[in-house]
Amino acid sequence: MAAEQDLMEKVVALCKRRGFVYPGSEIYGGLANSWDYGPLGTALKNNIRDWWWKRFVQSRDDMVGLDAAIIMNPKVWEASGHVAGFSDPLVECKNCHQRFRADQIDQDAPCPSCGKKGTFTEPKQFNLLFQTSIGSVEGDKSRVYLRGEIAQAMFVNFKNVLNTTRSRVPFGIASVGKAFRNEITPGNFIFRTLEFDLMEFEYFIRAADWEKTFEYWLGEQKAWLAELGFDAGHLRVREHEKEELSHYSKRTADIEYQTPFGWKELFGLAYRTDYDLRNHMEKSGVDLQYTDPDTNEKFIPHVVEPTFGLTRLLLMVLLESYTEEGEGDERRIVLKLKPALAPFKAAVFPLLKNKADLVGKARGIYDTLRRDYSVAWDDRGNIGKRYLAQDEIGTPVCITVDFQTLEDDTVTVRDRDTKQQERIAIADLPRHLAA
Ligand code: GAP
Repeated sequence: MAAEQDLMEKVVALCKRRGFVYPGSEIYGGLANSWDYGPLGTALKNNIRDWWWKRFVQSRDDMVGLDAAIIMNPKVWEASGHVAGFSDPLVECKNCHQRFRADQIDQDAPCPSCGKKGTFTEPKQFNLLFQTSIGSVEGDKSRVYLRGEIAQAMFVNFKNVLNTTRSRVPFGIASVGKAFRNEITPGNFIFRTLEFDLMEFEYFIRAADWEKTFEYWLGEQKAWLAELGFDAGHLRVREHEKEELSHYSKRTADIEYQTPFGWKELFGLAYRTDYDLRNHMEKSGVDLQYTDPDTNEKFIPHVVEPTFGLTRLLLMVLLESYTEEGEGDERRIVLKLKPALAPFKAAVFPLLKNKADLVGKARGIYDTLRRDYSVAWDDRGNIGKRYLAQDEIGTPVCITVDFQTLEDDTVTVRDRDTKQQERIAIADLPRHLAA
């Protein structure tokens, strides 16, 4: 357990030290469960998102994209059931007024915050939707919500998508974007935050197909985790018990990851039936049925929803890829990221920074490569230190320009994982990075 806690602390420290993640509003003392993504974190997040989009949207015939507004008509959240049902049971300590999830603490034990015993209130439902208001008048008329999930826009736009694309059931609508939840439980770094990025699609099907569709997407979620480099032994599937199902779900399975703070949900998969389209149809009065173009049969499609927490996945990718190797001078931290995820695909170094011809040659390679790839430049310290600095941020290769380069236009390319070096012609570098 101590070693595992240690891993979490090391990843958090690396994130701060190298600019993956910073505490939100840090110069004002921060804000609980709020974090900012620095230059490397932004790159890693974008790389995960781009891979997801390519794999699940761009490369498929049956998926289309949607990028919707965060603030929607509040009637959406009434129809979806979130105003009434998107809540956690909370207890409050009558002494220190700290609130806790009733299902996550022992209510007979002393308050974890002030240590007093027997001070908890009865559990009360606490809605997770953030409220704000439009315009200058506050009150019920102007009240709106920050979206608690990105899914609703895909249901609300179902008709628009049908009318403007050639999508036919079965098909999916995919979205990536921020969701907001008034979380009060401890966040475990970026695991649980007030706002977070989600990647998700609603897959519209005939009711009779839900079980096979569910199994198919569970398989696809697992397959992508393997492609991302996750060890299958660190993952498990957990079916939701009846009483923990969301208000819209008939079956939910979570893919959980073995974190230093226990098995935790990474991805979710839910069979939402026709709950959302049916409710929006009833409340809006707009016909959201699908008409089969071959048979003219009309029906409300059912939905299987695979959901992928992007910021949560980023944390698990870091935990999974963080490695320490070697002894003494050889000791190093390596982020064993898949090259597609690495913030930099390569780093370029001149062997010596005070030799203008080496620096000029290296600069030329750097400028050429970064037209197509994200590439780092480093001319500080010695080569060994530069390697270490790139290893701990996951850069797959380091390219060094030395005196031989000036004679034969080859460079040294050093591999992050094996530390092996080979000489490669400058002209072959783009091919090498693309491999
Ligand atoms: N549309 C379904 C939906 O939103 P969810 O299980 O409530 O389902 C989806 O959330 C995913 O979002 C989760 O599987 C998890 O990866 C991530 N997630 C949920 N709450 C989060 C939070 N407070 N902070 C970061 N990620 C969160």
